[in-house]
Amino acid sequence: MGADVIVGAQFGDEGKGKIVDTLVHRNNYEIVVRYNGGANAGHTVIFDGKTFKLHLVPSGIFKHGTICILGTGTVIDPVALVKEIADLEAAGVDVSGFRISNRAHLILPWHMILDKARECERDARAAESKSATTAIGTTGRGIGPCYETKAARIGIRMGDLKDDVVTTFLAKLDSMYRHFLHDLHLGEITLKRFNLPKLPEPDAVFRDILIAKNIGRFITDTDELTRAAWRSGKKILLEGAQATHLDIECGTYPFVSSSHATSAGACVGSGLPPTAIENVFAVAKAYTTRVGNGPFLTEQETEIGNLLRDRGHEFGTTTGRPRRCGWFDADLVRRACEINGAQKLIVTKLDVLTGLDEILLSTGCDAMGHPVYERFKGWDKLLTAVRVWNDLPHEAQKYLSRIEELSGARLAGVAIGPSREQIIWLD
Ligand code: GDP
Ligand code: IMO
Ligand code: MG
Repeated sequence: MGADVIVGAQFGDEGKGKIVDTLVHRNNYEIVVRYNGGANAGHTVIFDGKTFKLHLVPSGIFKHGTICILGTGTVIDPVALVKEIADLEAAGVDVSGFRISNRAHLILPWHMILDKARECERDARAAESKSATTAIGTTGRGIGPCYETKAARIGIRMGDLKDDVVTTFLAKLDSMYRHFLHDLHLGEITLKRFNLPKLPEPDAVFRDILIAKNIGRFITDTDELTRAAWRSGKKILLEGAQATHLDIECGTYPFVSSSHATSAGACVGSGLPPTAIENVFAVAKAYTTRVGNGPFLTEQETEIGNLLRDRGHEFGTTTGRPRRCGWFDADLVRRACEINGAQKLIVTKLDVLTGLDEILLSTGCDAMGHPVYERFKGWDKLLTAVRVWNDLPHEAQKYLSRIEELSGARLAGVAIGPSREQIIWLD
């Protein structure tokens, strides 16, 4: 039996968390692996009227008995993780199936300070030269700098937290501190200028990490565990964070995150070989949103954009920033399906479009780089209680069928509300 992948087809926040939770219950996956990113992600899962916003813990955690792994491709802020686990436990969620890869890298306060300092500097430089900012609009969670120290081979891994004797661990912290202080010229002047804290010294960082010591019980060789589960025929779901067009390789560089968000990244980030992948589900919203800077062909900085934001509650799950909103970009999703080898497409938030007179869908751009739109008639029927395709209004079926046709993948599901059961399956 192969592993299945859930991957974002746009710029993130497509509803991946909801789809993972729904699919885990439908298909009885025994293992769920988050394979990339860190607490820059915000995956919302809603059931029984309760809302959970997960940043690190995989969205399969709500199905009892599921092994939920933070894979080798992830970067982990131990302080944020301790809080997330404590919040889940306080809500009565069983976290005994949670595991953390010993190879995942630790995010330390230095990474977060550098992330913020760089963004502030970009904004300040733009203000001085009265030009547009080159800031990426990161989440400030230290993601980029952590993948940098990983690639520079001076990173500290979760396994170090568990195995190392204190002196070795402190030496590693010290070496990384020197890297930030000297190599990266993170001088006090820069930090003061942007009202950022002084870089804490290694001893202070160590004291903070100590509170994370109790997550040592979750740390193990998850790559081995996942491959062994695959060999023995267990059902595995690989949960992507961010999205194809935020991927460091194929996204809208440099306005991207620093991880491999695509299905190819699902292998390196979980320890499974490419031959283990069976089904790839691309998840796309019925319109487009983006949080942070970067190109957005179909963006609507108009009333319609505001309407989509209000109706779809389009505010960042992690930072609370308003999301930029616009029409569905079919070419963006087609490319995502191709890059990820997605045979199946799941469209979410169709319910948000109810009540619009007309819905636009871009099929690509003209010679001037402007989007070319097809126009669809809207519908008024509330969709949140619909569970089968035939109960969808004809106009909604037409819109979805065109999305399916242009995407090159088979439409496998349509979400029409945020809760676990609000989905129409087509297979
Ligand atoms: P993720 O990062 O891809 O997991 O997505 P987020 O959780 O950041 O954002 C998706 C938002 O849309 C969350 O607030 C979800 O509860 C909500 N959501 C997911 N699917 C649907 C849907 O079909 N309809 C509506 N109205 N909301 C949805
Ligand atoms: P989920 O998993 C939406 C965006 C940031 C910024 C860029 C780089 O919830 O879909 P980073 O902090 O990663 O260095 O920021 O990527 N970004 C996301 N946008 N959803 C996410 O995750 C995102 N994770 C990062 O806004 O533009
Ligand atoms: Mg999100």
